[in-house]
Amino acid sequence: MIELKTDLFGFVLDPPLILASGILDQTARTMERIANNEVGGIVTKSIGEEPREGHPNPTVVELENGLLNAMGLPNPGIEDFKTELDELRQSVERKPIIGSVFASDPEGFAELAQNMVEHGSDMIELNLSCPHAEGYGASIASDDEMMREVISRVKEKIEKPILTKLPPSTEIARKAALAEESGSDGIVCINTVRAMTINFETQEPILGNKIGGYSGKAIKPIGLRCVFEVYREVDIPIIGCGGINTGRDALEYMLAGASALQIGTVFHTRGKKSPNKIAQEMKELMEKEKIEDLKELIAEAHK
Ligand code: SIN
Repeated sequence: MIELKTDLFGFVLDPPLILASGILDQTARTMERIANNEVGGIVTKSIGEEPREGHPNPTVVELENGLLNAMGLPNPGIEDFKTELDELRQSVERKPIIGSVFASDPEGFAELAQNMVEHGSDMIELNLSCPHAEGYGASIASDDEMMREVISRVKEKIEKPILTKLPPSTEIARKAALAEESGSDGIVCINTVRAMTINFETQEPILGNKIGGYSGKAIKPIGLRCVFEVYREVDIPIIGCGGINTGRDALEYMLAGASALQIGTVFHTRGKKSPNKIAQEMKELMEKEKIEDLKELIAEAHK
């Protein structure tokens, strides 16, 4: 029997596929539907201290090999989102709920994390990686001191595991080591890649915000490189994310050093049964290669 189980801070993820932040995760109902559809866990939409509208339209454009978005962190704010979390907690019992948070300073992150935990989050994901929201996300990770303070302040405030989601910079391995040193329990890499598209006819950028983040198939080699480099620098678990479309993609991320995975854009290309399809393909490929347990694969590309 092929085993697709993996352990993440005491939670058994089966399969090791977690719904990534920003996809189908704004309400308890959509998250619940995905949770019951064979993901191992769920990351919420990134939530901030106050309601936020996000960037002007258009906010999402489909390109040949992925999606380009500049949502701009739209969210209802933590006060409103607590109700969704309470509802989700009641309907999803055994799977971890990971609360994603963003703020502009350490205290903001810490307050949000505490609220998320009080309303049923099993882990916290710090969004230090959104590539298109000035003063948030990747801006925080670009400043070592700020990044250190954010993580250590959250660590003082909550007892649940902290995951730091990093942008795909050339410095990702050093940043991951800094996150580990500051108290992060795991690293999520990568977020979307800062990118843009231009309409030749109108001679203008298409996104309302002009610049956004690219996700999907095209970014898999970037994600793999990041996981590979981060694995060499840290001893904490790595959750691989970026362009996982098939079971083969998922296993490649594990070979690079990921012990769990996040999927998002694939829901757009392969539909709501994506996790089942990817898990089935993982099993088939493992069976063909006579691999019984995922542990046999993790970080094998480093040997
Ligand atoms: C968004 O909501 O703007 C996307 C979040 C992210 O890129 O981290």
